[in-house]
Amino acid sequence: MEKYYWITTYGCQMNVHESEKIAGILRARGYKQGKSEEEADIVVFNTCCIRENAENHAYGNIGALKKLKKSRPSMLIAVGGCMTQQAGAAEKLRKKFPFVDIVFGTHNLPVLGELIDKKLAGKKAVVDVWEKEGEADTEDISYRTSYPNAWVNIMYGCNNFCSYCIVPYVRGRERSRESGAIVKEVNALLDQGYKEITLLGQNVNSYGNDREDCTFWQLLNKICERKEKFRLRFMTSNPKDFGEDLVRTIADNEQICHLVHLPVQAGSDRILKLMNRKYTAKEYLEKVEMLRKYVPDCQLTTDIMVGFPTETEEDFQATLSLVKEARFSTAFTFVYSRRSGTVAAGMDGQIPEEVQKDRIMRLVELVNAQTRELSAAYRGKTIEVLCEDYDAKRGLYLGRDEYGRMGYFKSETNKVGDFVKLKVSGTSGVSLDCELCEDTKE
Ligand code: SAH
Ligand code: SF4
Ligand code: F3S
Repeated sequence: MEKYYWITTYGCQMNVHESEKIAGILRARGYKQGKSEEEADIVVFNTCCIRENAENHAYGNIGALKKLKKSRPSMLIAVGGCMTQQAGAAEKLRKKFPFVDIVFGTHNLPVLGELIDKKLAGKKAVVDVWEKEGEADTEDISYRTSYPNAWVNIMYGCNNFCSYCIVPYVRGRERSRESGAIVKEVNALLDQGYKEITLLGQNVNSYGNDREDCTFWQLLNKICERKEKFRLRFMTSNPKDFGEDLVRTIADNEQICHLVHLPVQAGSDRILKLMNRKYTAKEYLEKVEMLRKYVPDCQLTTDIMVGFPTETEEDFQATLSLVKEARFSTAFTFVYSRRSGTVAAGMDGQIPEEVQKDRIMRLVELVNAQTRELSAAYRGKTIEVLCEDYDAKRGLYLGRDEYGRMGYFKSETNKVGDFVKLKVSGTSGVSLDCELCEDTKE
């Protein structure tokens, strides 16, 4: 009898990639990808707790499975990821949803297969969340679904303790993988035909701080020794550790995309200090300037938060000015969410919801205007994209240029995984409407 799995993922790229590892573990146990939760023999929720709404989402979807579980008690439900790793969360989850069979954390993801065996051998729910970090090298278990891009973790955890952020509590301390293992894995992926490698870490610039062999920019150089055509991306860079060595490395290696994601969070020095970000707005802008000096065409994206405790209208105005000055091509914008256990959760001066809403709307408006302006500048230009997928609804292929801009185009032949040249005929907000250039047609 065939056995099927279904995985629901919340949160960041790191979690998306970890779901590929979960899929690898399930496939090694004989499960195949199902078409829906309804036909699955095991449903896994890979959760996120970065903001309250991410948690509410997961809670809602787990709760919605109660009926299905009642009608098919043999179906296993497993919940893992960052949410379960919080203090007391596993107990809370079991209490709220007694029908959940397995609860695991971020640190023991690699042993999920054994937890499944244990559950299948007995009646009791299996709850196993490790407090201590696990091994750093667990990459080869992935079942990848993101061709032509492949995600590669270079490190786990975070040491920064930004005052609003739950990640250091649920992901543990920084652990860098051995550089030789990373280079070997990247080479194997390129051998298999992957065209884009995205290196993952909460703060890739501190890669190697916990070991002797290699820094982040040295790691990039090692990867770029491979001379064939591919794209190399990485995220996330923390401005406090973003240095000239790295910028030179970006300029020197043509495989590295000219797009840097450099989360700024806020434009007010007082707020940045309260956030424990360890840089000022001026220092941030100086780094942007340095990047543009070495890599003049480099695009910049960022993360910004509004409504942090005590944020005044003046502080918020400083954020708007910084957005203009840094000329971000786009930004991920968030309303501050109080995370229990973090330093900011205990701060006085939490901002009322209506003020937060008003600020996020004004910020989004500004960011969108800047993105549209950059899109408009694309009209009539020729770009090169790496074709990622086919959008069956629109009947169009899609791919990104090196700056992360998405272009849509028509093609008679399958272009997924190919670098293709496109002429930009128009823009619709963020994405570009394009035509395939003659020289890339077959
Ligand atoms: N390691 C990355 C970010 C990881 S979390 C970095 O340091 O930049 C992704 C983004 O979520 C953060 O950049 C921040 O903007 C946002 N975020 C984190 N905690 C948050 C909170 N409590 N409320 C709202 N947004 C938050
Ligand atoms: Fe969170 Fe800061 Fe670490 Fe990023 S660097 S994961 S925002 S604590
Ligand atoms: Fe990522 Fe969410 Fe965890 S953003 S690291 S999945 S808390």
